[in-house]
Amino acid sequence: MEFSIKSAAPEKLRTDCLLVGIYEGRKLTDLAKSLDAVSEKAISAALKSGDMEGKTGSTLILRQLSGVVAPRVMLVGLGKADDASLKSLRNSFRAAVKALPAGVENVATDFVSLSIKKTTVQQKAAALAEVALDATYKVNAVKEKSVEPHPLKQVSVLVEKTDQAAATEGVSQGSSVGQGVALAKDLGNLPPNICTPSYLGKQAEKLAKEYGFKVEVLEQAAIEKLNMGSFLGVTRGSEEPPRFIVLQHLQGKKSQKPVVLVGKGITFDTGGISLKPGADMDEMKYDMCGAASVLGVFKALGELKLPLNVVGLIPTCENMPSGRATKPGDVLTSMSGQTIEVLNTDAEGRLILCDALTYAERFEPAAVIDIATLTGACVIALGHHVSGLFANNDALAKALLAAGEQANDRAWQMPLWDDYQGQLDSNFADIANIGGRAAGSITAACFLSRFAKKYDWAHLDIAGTAWKSGKEKGGTGRPVPLLVTYLLEQAAK
Ligand code: BES
Ligand code: MN
Ligand code: ZN
Repeated sequence: MEFSIKSAAPEKLRTDCLLVGIYEGRKLTDLAKSLDAVSEKAISAALKSGDMEGKTGSTLILRQLSGVVAPRVMLVGLGKADDASLKSLRNSFRAAVKALPAGVENVATDFVSLSIKKTTVQQKAAALAEVALDATYKVNAVKEKSVEPHPLKQVSVLVEKTDQAAATEGVSQGSSVGQGVALAKDLGNLPPNICTPSYLGKQAEKLAKEYGFKVEVLEQAAIEKLNMGSFLGVTRGSEEPPRFIVLQHLQGKKSQKPVVLVGKGITFDTGGISLKPGADMDEMKYDMCGAASVLGVFKALGELKLPLNVVGLIPTCENMPSGRATKPGDVLTSMSGQTIEVLNTDAEGRLILCDALTYAERFEPAAVIDIATLTGACVIALGHHVSGLFANNDALAKALLAAGEQANDRAWQMPLWDDYQGQLDSNFADIANIGGRAAGSITAACFLSRFAKKYDWAHLDIAGTAWKSGKEKGGTGRPVPLLVTYLLEQAAK
């Protein structure tokens, strides 16, 4: 998708379709008024006849208006003028893009000029670019004939001359986030016989080559050498070899401590010997969405050339049952030295993450953030709207919550109080890998916290937000927008 910033008379623009906002109650925006004037009131006439009220999500295409060069003018409902927000702008623009006829390859919009309280031109431009990419995303399904890309190729953003710089900056941010989101969706959506641990390793190497990241993809022998006994306990049952990916974007000052992102990369979670029920098990291909979001963030970092140091760590393997698989009752020795009694082999995410958290210590991080489709319990607690956030540092938690709010990719903080730690006591090891049915997402976070004592740490449980089920089944690319917004904020400091 290409974006261009223009300050030109809209009626003279050569574009397949002009998007023109209408507020609820048939109220014309400035652009609508000026087009109405040159087109002998064609817009007012359409509104008067009752074809459009201006409700958010509604659209109406008018063709061949006199005095307007563009062959189509799409009226786009913006909802109530008083309630205008970045979120309503996103929703209106998304509806417009979704309603475009197949013949439209480029559009022009003045939506960045719509006034929204406490919102900058840059933020509006970023939102539009991100939504344009999100709304035109197509699953690259494995079909006999390859899937045609969405026809929309170009968006012209109309702004006042004085706003051009801010709009340019915003579009570049939004487009970078959008590309990161698309990569995370693509990786999540791939079938698990293609998106294996070694495939993820190759994707990391490809990104590194494209953007100049430092990359290491460790194989089984190197993982054994690091004594990652907990991670190795999960991969044991699988024929597919594991990988441990280390990606580094080093564009900050040498003295600047890095932010470390750790992504859960279970490319398929059967549950192992504690086998999951069969219904909907295909969705456990999405159990690598934490890893996908780390790669998506790196894509955006590479596009943005952010002056920051960021390290990405991805432990990745399958969780399979077999004669060699780890069994309930087995005790594993983690890289940290702490021993773990595996009471349920389906609580495998924390077992691969804990060794990655120990590995993270060597970077002397400013902060470590892990991202994981960790618990079904998190879906029960928060549903599919927000990610669960846990942190051992309040400032870090606040910064992530604010970033999620700004990026329309929210998280909600859950407690990490010591009261819950006792649920992980074991008679046979330092810690058990499950803490019973009560507070399942909290005890999972408590487990991770035992391995994250040496730095500021946050954990995002994305079990409910990383993908959608049902008719719209597909990856969402979350929480790439939250994470990139957080990193942009760190770079601005
Ligand atoms: N990957 C799953 C969590 C999951 C389940 C995410 C369903 C999204 C939808 C994780 O590995 C898992 O199986 N967790 C168990 C933990 C339990 C055994 C303590 C769970 O949530 O049931
Ligand atoms: Mn599991
Ligand atoms: Zn899992």
